[in-house]
Amino acid sequence: MMDTRIIRVDDIKASASDIKYAAEIVKAGGLVAFPTETVYGLGADATNPSAVKRIFEAKGRPQDNPLIIHISTPKEAEKYTYTPEAYYRIAEAFMPGPITVIMRSRDVIPHETRAGLETVAVRCPENPVARELIREAGVPIAAPSANLSGSPSPTSAKHVIDDMMGRCEVIIDGGECEFGLESTIVKIEDDGTLTLLRPGKITLGDLTAIGFDVAVADAVLGKLADDQVALSPGMKYRHYAPKASVILLDGSAKKCIEYIKSAAEGKIAVIAYSEDLSDFESALSHVTLYDFGARCDELAQAHSLFNILRIADKEKFDTIFAPLPATDGVGMALYNRMIRAAAHKIVRL
Ligand code: TXA
Ligand code: MG
Repeated sequence: MMDTRIIRVDDIKASASDIKYAAEIVKAGGLVAFPTETVYGLGADATNPSAVKRIFEAKGRPQDNPLIIHISTPKEAEKYTYTPEAYYRIAEAFMPGPITVIMRSRDVIPHETRAGLETVAVRCPENPVARELIREAGVPIAAPSANLSGSPSPTSAKHVIDDMMGRCEVIIDGGECEFGLESTIVKIEDDGTLTLLRPGKITLGDLTAIGFDVAVADAVLGKLADDQVALSPGMKYRHYAPKASVILLDGSAKKCIEYIKSAAEGKIAVIAYSEDLSDFESALSHVTLYDFGARCDELAQAHSLFNILRIADKEKFDTIFAPLPATDGVGMALYNRMIRAAAHKIVRL
């Protein structure tokens, strides 16, 4: 275990010297956890193999799961990848922002960072603390989500402290992440079409709206067949897996209540839309309720999902019931994360 320094950043100008300090740690091969608009990242110099190895150790992450490299301006991608025309169209529309693009890597990115793949994932975050850190470091920053492998991605500094205290040199506390789910990941194919590997705030509709043909990878909305090779190595791992059994319910609040009454045993939690809370409360005694946000407010749900899962995990519930999201818009990102948390346990009511 090492000493971890926590740096609180409220005002980017006032904190310039603290960010410089963190950037020096990155340059020297250390680990810095930092906020982004999606989730917190655990960063190291993406061009330094031994620094990158430390990320895998700190998280307990399998070595064959490649990392995203973070850059401070979209144009910097040219130094690290062969950027096709499609990249510039994506960058123009959505960068800096919550999108990651997979392209063919140049040799400067070591095999450790991209887990031996020919490609590398590139993201230019919008969060000013993240961008300033990358700019000051002067190197691309490799960063997976700053959680221990297998727990939900961290959306606040508290989550990072819970998982990473003693495992990295610095944690930059920049408050709560605005969106709360990880970035959209697209791969640019040789013919200029896109494959959506992970849905996020930038939606399928956003990508088609700027003229792309987009194929949605099978794993995004369903189970991978055993013989199917995961396009994104991370997809084959069970992510966001709480210790409780999570069950997604597809039906009205009334039907959900009936089902939970008949089916539930042990210590129960229910994640419910705000407008259904009072019905659940009066019908189900002895269950713990979590407010998921209004039914139509997918951004509120995205913002709260991982925090609820982390809090619920500590309570050692036997079963957590949650609503099955729709798959359109930002709903696709929620659906993708929730079917994984539930290990595909869905009950149609
Ligand atoms: O929002 C985010 O993307 C956050 C913040 C910190 O930027 N990062 C993040 O990283 O979620 P991570 O490592 O938790 O998830 C990255 C995913 C993994 O599933 C990984 O397998 C996949 O991206 N990936 C990385 N490089 C890839 C590549 N070259 N080809 C296919 N998939 C790749
Ligand atoms: Mg992750």
